[in-house]
Amino acid sequence: MSVLRTKPIGDVLAQGESDGGDGGPGLRRRLRARDLTGFGIGIVIGTGIFTLTGIEARDSAGPGVVISFAIAGLVALLAALCYAELASSVPTAGSAYTYAYATMGEIVAWIIGWDLLLEFALGAAVVARGWSGYLAELVGLPTAWFGEEGSVVNVGAIGIVLLLGVVAIVGVRESARVTNLLVLVKVAICVFIVVAGLFFVKAANLTPFIPPARPADGGEDGVRQPVTQALFGLEPSVFGFVGVLSAAAVVFFAYTGFEAVANLGEEARRPRRDLTLGLLGTLLISTVLYIGVSLVVVGMVPYTEIDRGAPIAAAFNAVGAEWAGILVSIAAVAGLTSVILVDLVAMGRIGFALGRDGLIPPSVAKVHPRWGTPYRISAVMTVAVALLAGFLPLSALADLVSIGALAAFVLVSVAVPILRRKRPDLDRPFRVPFSPVLPIGSALACLYLMLNLSVETWLRFGAWMLLGVLIYVGYGYRNNRLAQGSPAAGSRDPAPV
Ligand code: ALA
Repeated sequence: MSVLRTKPIGDVLAQGESDGGDGGPGLRRRLRARDLTGFGIGIVIGTGIFTLTGIEARDSAGPGVVISFAIAGLVALLAALCYAELASSVPTAGSAYTYAYATMGEIVAWIIGWDLLLEFALGAAVVARGWSGYLAELVGLPTAWFGEEGSVVNVGAIGIVLLLGVVAIVGVRESARVTNLLVLVKVAICVFIVVAGLFFVKAANLTPFIPPARPADGGEDGVRQPVTQALFGLEPSVFGFVGVLSAAAVVFFAYTGFEAVANLGEEARRPRRDLTLGLLGTLLISTVLYIGVSLVVVGMVPYTEIDRGAPIAAAFNAVGAEWAGILVSIAAVAGLTSVILVDLVAMGRIGFALGRDGLIPPSVAKVHPRWGTPYRISAVMTVAVALLAGFLPLSALADLVSIGALAAFVLVSVAVPILRRKRPDLDRPFRVPFSPVLPIGSALACLYLMLNLSVETWLRFGAWMLLGVLIYVGYGYRNNRLAQGSPAAGSRDPAPV
């Protein structure tokens, strides 16, 4: 069946070393391991830790939210190990999309590429609205133009997306410099939160660590309830270990994005070594910071009194350290800025990979001769993201980012044993230990977290996927490079990488 045709690995490797799909230039190898880790932390640490910690501690897990962060971090780490094996042996701009093209076939690849576009585009839009709100709070701007309530158009969100869209288009080195700076600010302040916060932790706030389970108050039924509860007809409940697990599915959002490092496979100077360092470094640093930050927050304030909107700043205010609250808000603005920037960079790379293979019109994948970035697709999508961010209240759509990421992780995990079987000879600078047990465990863990997301999120995700299938049937199926029988770009012996 031609929808299941696969792309030879040799072509994938050669393509990464050659052109932009239409004979124009390809992406440039400019990034070091440090830059890759900077990009990773840049996109990972953001709204998740700065807001979800409060909501989940208060409504679902109590101080046990620390365990939720640890569980989510572990699941993300399993997926990152799988990404590291594939990214280091097949470094390409398309990441999960390309791995699926080489192992599971074109239709699966297209679906995953389409899914990643959703993840990065919505990720940028959701976080841009959060950014606008934090900025308004920090410097006192009118919420009608910068906040969620009563605003028709969020000019702050539109402005930051357009500004960072230009940075992403002008150059990946420039994006890396801006990101590294923002990342330094936010990591330093996270470390500060942990160290300063420890002085205010009270043991009484941490007992019981997991409050006993009790029935949910409502608002958790119908399409709002997790798929697991809907499927098994369970009584909605909160707290207890079940609450910790459902909080783990929600705070998983805080780890999403690390996979964007794999999209920079064609821009890394030494992809075989540095992609693994970038992926695993990002996750280890984020997990340690998240566990530390969430622990001091629930230790500083009784979980029943934690602020839902700005939990960390509010915790410092509650113990009388307002100056620390201001520092935290600055970190949030810096943190969110880099999340948006890296989302925009990664989104352009996925669009580039889809266009280069002819699944969307190839002319949009063209790389700028001087900037070395896929400027057309990035510009079109930046405008789309700016419009989304400006006009849609996107809070409910944040879960779509998580489901999009988890779906990609399931396929990437499955791709590891498939590729080992198909191409045992491939040079693998990094190998997942205990394969196939660990990759299969990773796929199941991601699937389990997906099932803990709401029915509503699944319905929205299904609608986006249906639209993707229609586009594939209407355009990509006939027009892509493999269908046209044209050799993949640069299908010659792969250049040494
Ligand atoms: N992981 C990113 C965040 O928490 C999307 O904002």
